[in-house]
Amino acid sequence: MGVDERQRIMTEIQNLKSKIQNPPDWQPRILAFLCNWCSYAGADLAGVSRLQYPPNVRVIRVPCSARVDPVFILAALQRGADGVLVSGCHPGDCHYLSGNLVARRRFALLKALLDEVGFETNRVHFSWVSAAEGGRFAELIREVTEKVRALGPARQLVKRFNEGIET
Ligand code: FES
Repeated sequence: MGVDERQRIMTEIQNLKSKIQNPPDWQPRILAFLCNWCSYAGADLAGVSRLQYPPNVRVIRVPCSARVDPVFILAALQRGADGVLVSGCHPGDCHYLSGNLVARRRFALLKALLDEVGFETNRVHFSWVSAAEGGRFAELIREVTEKVRALGPARQLVKRFNEGIET
């Protein structure tokens, strides 16, 4: 990944509002890394088709799910995201042949590491959504939102200096 691309994604993560909300006002905030060729197009189709799904997701478009460095996921959680979703093309459909398989392996390792250190792993999700699956995208967002909502606000990895600060 080029330096510019990496910097763009990190900047988008850093632009997350870092305010931590408490119940009853709290709504889960989910950061979704969507591959440009499939999942982002699936999200677009869901929007164009006016499919209903929770408005709790902020999307960062990436060229391929393999571009999602685990550092991005950790940075999002540090920045106050309550959940993170990575979604790419189905196996066999990746524009870069096997990028999605690399991403899934990398994600599984990160999830195992997070589990090992006692992190709530239901905050991080990986999925496949094609450009034709607007309905699947809407359903996925509903599922992830409810799983994250059940956990309540994330605090484990949030940097302390973010608390109570809205940027
Ligand atoms: Fe979509 Fe690789 S191009 S996951």
